[in-house]
Amino acid sequence: MENIIMYPADNEKEAVDWKAIQGQHITAVKRNILVLGSGGREHALAWKLAQSEGAHVFIAPGNAGTAQVGVNVNIKPSDFEAVKDFCLKQEINLVVVGPEQPLVDGIVDFFKGDAELKGVKIIGPDKQGAQLEGSKAYAKDFMEKYGVPTAKCFKVNKDNLNEGYKFLESVKAPYVLKADGLAAGKGVLILNDLQESKDELGKMLDGKFGAASATVVIEEFLKGIEVSVFVLTDGEHYVLLPEAKDYKRIGDGDQGLNTGGMGAVSPVPFCTPEFLNKVEDRIVKPTLKGLKAEGIDYKGFIFLGLMNDGGNPYVIEYNVRMGDPETEAVMTRIEGDFADLLMACADGRLDEVHYAKSDKTAVTVMMVSGGYPEAYKKGMIMSGLDNLKDVVAFHAGTAFDAEKNVVTAGGRVIAVTAHGASIEEARSIAYREVEKIHFEGINYRHDIGLDLMRMQ
Ligand code: AMP
Ligand code: GLY
Repeated sequence: MENIIMYPADNEKEAVDWKAIQGQHITAVKRNILVLGSGGREHALAWKLAQSEGAHVFIAPGNAGTAQVGVNVNIKPSDFEAVKDFCLKQEINLVVVGPEQPLVDGIVDFFKGDAELKGVKIIGPDKQGAQLEGSKAYAKDFMEKYGVPTAKCFKVNKDNLNEGYKFLESVKAPYVLKADGLAAGKGVLILNDLQESKDELGKMLDGKFGAASATVVIEEFLKGIEVSVFVLTDGEHYVLLPEAKDYKRIGDGDQGLNTGGMGAVSPVPFCTPEFLNKVEDRIVKPTLKGLKAEGIDYKGFIFLGLMNDGGNPYVIEYNVRMGDPETEAVMTRIEGDFADLLMACADGRLDEVHYAKSDKTAVTVMMVSGGYPEAYKKGMIMSGLDNLKDVVAFHAGTAFDAEKNVVTAGGRVIAVTAHGASIEEARSIAYREVEKIHFEGINYRHDIGLDLMRMQ
């Protein structure tokens, strides 16, 4: 074991946690939980799971923040054999897969197919189910087949490029071009000019996004306002987790380049019961019916990236995991024992578990490195984290340096989440605390939630 746990030399807290865990076989419920991933989403998942009864949380590989709620384990989620080895040695009961890549690469199939891992529950779809995110062409075919409302599209590869040009000519600007495969969130181009779109289509097919853009999905542009709706399903039953709005552009007023997400708000005022009923009837139910009909065993999260056009929901994309930074808002609004909920999900008993969400509003502000989403520096010493009040700071890209300082280690660095009775109250607390955090080059949006406040 010692060789795969990052402890204790450079982190006193981890050493203490580890010893506590070693001795603890006395709680009525003992659940060893492994969260795979290293971002703000994984910190939020681990933070919530750590509050569950009898939970001992491990995070592989984690970051400086996850070390506060569990034990970081120096294993890459892509190394399935190492994950297995750890699960067996540490008697892990539940594995929660944070990012999409291990799911698309078949980690759930690996677990299900291994007799030694029979007793280990895992949250996430199998490889075929993960295609809902792993291949946009697959997702579009699926939606078409099962009547899920989405934008009209045309799939292009090198063999039918001319038809692709014709489709572009047949739709109005803006033109939406999507790489079929995973492209680290960068594979979508939205362009106003027809000729530029044709040129970019050619470049994509020529490998602009590597193998991911060997097929390109051209889509009609959907108007409206976006929202992320999260479903937890055991294949038979489902619960709607709190929805959230993500802020994708780097600059205030939705200006500048796309990012992984600069902030989130949950709940979203325009997600009225009437709208959410439509989401359930028109999207969630046909999606689950389709998964069943395709013989896909789906026990995990479905993240619906939706466009609300005049009160009607359309699917922009499916993801097969939770969103980031939405999770940093959503987890703070889930009440009760989250490990219970996930265990029940893995067992196909989601209908038996009580699930409730807080009425409070959560506002999350993401602090990023200067230059992000383009080139940025790492290793900037962070200060102010110990002075935060009334908020939870979820670490995204952070690490410890040799002197045990918390330093920046990524583009998105830390997400600060506050609660309030209204968006106004939550955002004023969040921004009050954000101002206490410092590191060289720090950047964040100042307008998270402002647009939604006007709708409240
Ligand atoms: P995706 O990776 O498919 O979510 O696309 C990234 C972003 O591009 C989405 O969050 C939307 O903001 C935008 N987008 C994608 N598809 C469309 C569409 N058909 N119409 C309008 N905007 C879109
Ligand atoms: N926040 C969008 C995503 O996680 O893909």
